[in-house]
Amino acid sequence: MILEFLEYLLSSSSKSCGSMGFLSSSMRVRARFRRCKRFWAAHIEKTQETILEVAGQCPRRRRVALLGAGLLHDIPLEKLSKMFEEVMLVDIVHPWLSRVSARRFRNVTLVRADLTGAMEELQRVARLPGSALPVSRPDLFVNDPRLDLTVSVNLLSQLPHLPGEYLEGLRDEPTVAAFQKHLIEAHLEYLQRLPGRTALITDISSRRLERGETVAQERDVLHGVRLPPPELTWQWHLAPSPEIGRGIDVYNTVAAYGNWKKAVEQMNLKTINR
Ligand SMILES: C[S@@+](CC[C@H](N)C(=O)[O-])C[C@H]1O[C@@H](n2cnc3c(N)ncnc32)[C@H](O)[C@@H]1O
Repeated sequence: MILEFLEYLLSSSSKSCGSMGFLSSSMRVRARFRRCKRFWAAHIEKTQETILEVAGQCPRRRRVALLGAGLLHDIPLEKLSKMFEEVMLVDIVHPWLSRVSARRFRNVTLVRADLTGAMEELQRVARLPGSALPVSRPDLFVNDPRLDLTVSVNLLSQLPHLPGEYLEGLRDEPTVAAFQKHLIEAHLEYLQRLPGRTALITDISSRRLERGETVAQERDVLHGVRLPPPELTWQWHLAPSPEIGRGIDVYNTVAAYGNWKKAVEQMNLKTINR
């Protein structure tokens, strides 16, 4: 954890979101990535392959936005910087090492943004009794005529995570659960509103094994939000033993949608024709 502590000191996060622990959370992911690199390799490779495949299908390649790019483990940055005129890496926190990596490419820009658009307001109202929780309606890039591709990269399930922890003890469970679900739905709707092609890569469920045996039902990590059938799925060995306990392994199922708008359209058509 020493490397992560140093990186923590060298990184800065926006004041408003700092108290929610985004930077510490990033450093925990960085540390786990270092410990589990070998077990995460297949997931990282699949994610990068999917991004490059979608990028290759874009007829115009002016600007690409990678949402949740923060740690850059799963972003094929060099290849994307050759394929597109501009690469926008979007995250609420860009750790120091990511900033150093991004500086190597003249057409790569780091965009620090809260992709829910609701975290500042959440901190403002959370402790005010009786006040409604904010509505998430992100609008970054929605009017950008140069945006040809956006990929949401292993971000979706993370959007409600820290807000959920932050609200613990401040609001009742059903209110927190409804807010977490709302953050997920708002992101999916945002991917439909953005110009250009949009793609989604996200974990959808989590399975815990004890000594090789599945011990509990597959846990939905998307808070009850149903997605269309994915184009591709794979397993991510997120926590190999003894990461969270001796003999315990956690596998997440990851789903990929190379064309999110089309996937939603097809799902809506099926619902209408039913
Ligand atoms: C699991 S990581 C995604 C994987 C990451 N691309 C990597 O290379 O390891 C989730 C990312 O979502 C970011 N994130 C979480 N909530 C966010 C928000 N409200 N706005 C923008 N980024 C957010 C985190 O900072 C983190 O970098």
